[in-house]
Amino acid sequence: MKLWAGRFSKEADERVNDFNSSIRFDCRMFAQDITGSMAHAQMLADQGIIAADDARKIREGLAGILEDLKSGALAFDPQAEDIHMFVEQELTRRIGDAGKRLHTARSRNDQVALDLRLYLREEILQIQALISELLETLVSLAKEHLNTIMPGYTHLQRAQPITLAHHFMAYANMLMRDMGRLKDAASRMEECPLGCGALAGVTYPIDREATAAALGFSRPMANSLDGVSDRDYAVELCCAFALLMTHLSRFSEEIILWCSWEFKFIELDDAFATGSSIMPQKKNPDVTELIRGKTGRVTGDLVTLLTMMKGIPLAYNKDMQEDKESIFDAVDTVKLCLRTFTPMLRTMRVLKENMRTAAAKGFLNATDCADYLTKKGVPFRDAYKVTGSLVAQCIEKGLTLETLPLEDYQKAHPLFDETIYPAIALDTCVSCRTSQGGPAPSSVEKQIALAEAFLQGCQKEENHG
Ligand code: ARG
Repeated sequence: MKLWAGRFSKEADERVNDFNSSIRFDCRMFAQDITGSMAHAQMLADQGIIAADDARKIREGLAGILEDLKSGALAFDPQAEDIHMFVEQELTRRIGDAGKRLHTARSRNDQVALDLRLYLREEILQIQALISELLETLVSLAKEHLNTIMPGYTHLQRAQPITLAHHFMAYANMLMRDMGRLKDAASRMEECPLGCGALAGVTYPIDREATAAALGFSRPMANSLDGVSDRDYAVELCCAFALLMTHLSRFSEEIILWCSWEFKFIELDDAFATGSSIMPQKKNPDVTELIRGKTGRVTGDLVTLLTMMKGIPLAYNKDMQEDKESIFDAVDTVKLCLRTFTPMLRTMRVLKENMRTAAAKGFLNATDCADYLTKKGVPFRDAYKVTGSLVAQCIEKGLTLETLPLEDYQKAHPLFDETIYPAIALDTCVSCRTSQGGPAPSSVEKQIALAEAFLQGCQKEENHG
């Protein structure tokens, strides 16, 4: 029998029941639902809206339900419409009339808006911890590879030499911004929707400041219509997730390339690679391919949320029940990916020699050759042209800029002398790129120091939080 049986003369069609029900996915918010109800019941009693004794019974009953759901002694009823109905019905079954007073001055509309915020706030903390772990891994790998020279690319064509540390720190910086976006999203979840009621507040003397504080929010939401009808916090969070996944996906794509025979820059640990059912020689980077693939999923979750919200009038509409599967999927996917990606990265073997050999081929020092002339007073555009002709000569003769005879250099420009050779040596090309943010070990060390300070800041926040 439905709660609203009084208004209806028929039971709901079974198909409508199943279609309408969200318990199979919103059951994961049971702890948050109970926490919210406990705070609400306490406030109702403190304000004299329900009797203190009823509030006590409610809180004890809810605590028992929480324990039984956690232990598995109580199972979710798949017939229930949602987690909110389920908990309330179970409470009333357990404690009788007092249970029927819990929903005074509340609607499922403010209840669900509260539960989702409480749930997501906790998930954000877990995901931030996982990103921190990845950041720490990147920082320690960067320290190890300050002098591991590799080709830097544009258009996937060898461009200029960099180091693996420099490459890792590029991702570290993206991840630090991802952390910032999560923090930002969390800061906008600091307002509590409880007490907004169905849409138009309530007629009881509730204390929204008290429930907001009891549930760890900074303040109540200022407008009751807004409080029950926006899901911008979930959209914003999902957007941060989609960006984070996009970063992981680009990194994954590079790792896929790096462990191909064409590159052979790294070798994945056997525990983080997979084989083929038919080709005995194969060692496949499935983990990174899955991350690349799952990025599409999280972007899809974001698009679902945005599209779901864009045409619904204020205030609550049932469309909004669709928010949960998307944001839960995004949360689960991000956690799964981070949990696998970090140890995969930590255990992969870097084939330094192959990286160096690749950096030595492909005229990555051509810019340095042009810079050599520029520093002797030749305008850069002229120096660029001269170097271009030298590269063409090298290609024709099967030489590199390092092996091209000095007389060829001097024919191209009289300012060349024997100092050109040390100037275009691979190690020089990297160690001279000392500009802020560049690949020289001294520059990367500064980038590492900034990342370490960032991680320390996160640690401090965690300890205070
Ligand atoms: N299960 C619902 C949801 O997730 C809870 C809110 C229901 N409110 C309502 N007025 N039917 O959106």
